[in-house]
Amino acid sequence: MGFTLSSNITEELLNIIQVDSRDQIIENYTLIGKKLNELFPTELEPKNLYTAANHLLGRGKMLRPLLILLVNQNLGSKNINKIIKLSMAVELLHTASVIHDDIIDEADYRRGLPSIHKKFGNETAIVTGDLLISMAIKITSDLDPLTIRWVSEAAINMSEGESFEIEYKNQDLNTEMYYNIIKKKTASLIESSVASSALLSGVSNKLIDSFRTYGLNVGLGFQIRDDILDIIGKEQTLGKPVGNDIKSGRHNIVHILTKQTYPESRNLPGQKINNYVTPEIIESAQKLAFHHSNLAKASVSTFNEESKSIFESIASFIVNRN
Ligand code: IPE
Ligand code: IPE
Ligand code: MG
Ligand code: MG
Repeated sequence: MGFTLSSNITEELLNIIQVDSRDQIIENYTLIGKKLNELFPTELEPKNLYTAANHLLGRGKMLRPLLILLVNQNLGSKNINKIIKLSMAVELLHTASVIHDDIIDEADYRRGLPSIHKKFGNETAIVTGDLLISMAIKITSDLDPLTIRWVSEAAINMSEGESFEIEYKNQDLNTEMYYNIIKKKTASLIESSVASSALLSGVSNKLIDSFRTYGLNVGLGFQIRDDILDIIGKEQTLGKPVGNDIKSGRHNIVHILTKQTYPESRNLPGQKINNYVTPEIIESAQKLAFHHSNLAKASVSTFNEESKSIFESIASFIVNRN
């Protein structure tokens, strides 16, 4: 199958990019999707593995590659070959994480398609995730050692974040424990993506740190909005199940705030906690997401007007998306 922009949300994301270099960025973004689709030829054996590997690759929003490209373009478009490799490696790691995550969450849909374990079975889905991680490692071998270190540390954080969430499954979490989880499972990879892009673009440590802060806060806001969408979102737009967090024991910020507001809602059977969720609680969760998008915007406040505007728009989009 060829590379297609998979959804309206992807188009919405790309529409934000109204800069002179827009065509160049979209060309590279499309190229990354195409290269990901060509990584695992389906004629290779074992057929099941390679067919499964292609099932979801290049079909998501590809937010992390887009951020990597935007940072690089903003910093003078140096080292584009390495930037494309970094983008591919990060998207492979991210896709592997959602393949394994869907097994854990027993989620039947991803990117508008049956999830890999649903279509190919758990065994193939586990090995497919492993294959994607292995390919990511191979691709990073062409990158600078510090980039490899940052991306690997993010991958370690992702495993730790998912594991903490499993370990705390039947416990009430405070906001601090929640932040520890989402920083590791989601924000870390986005943070390391933008920091690595800045590094490969050859800029000062100070500027790398600004991008690092930007990526971290975009990542935190992104996961908080993802939690909100698990409650108020539409499956058709998200391409994945809604209402799955409570079923699979995920720690969703809306439920954490609900338990803090209504202590009697703790330890209810099934999905009864949803009866306690109010628009005000959703609003409080959304305020946390806005807080992080504001911190992300603050980290780029000294950039020139055009750069500032694009990074601010992305930070807003992340926490307002549907
Ligand atoms: C889903 O990530 C997993 C989370 C970190 C919440 P995305 O929302 O970026 O998923 P795709 O790649 O667009 O499918
Ligand atoms: C997991 O969080 C994020 C990963 C690192 C895979 P979620 O469980 O909320 O992600 P979705 O909602 O299934 O995409
Ligand atoms: Mg999940
Ligand atoms: Mg989620």
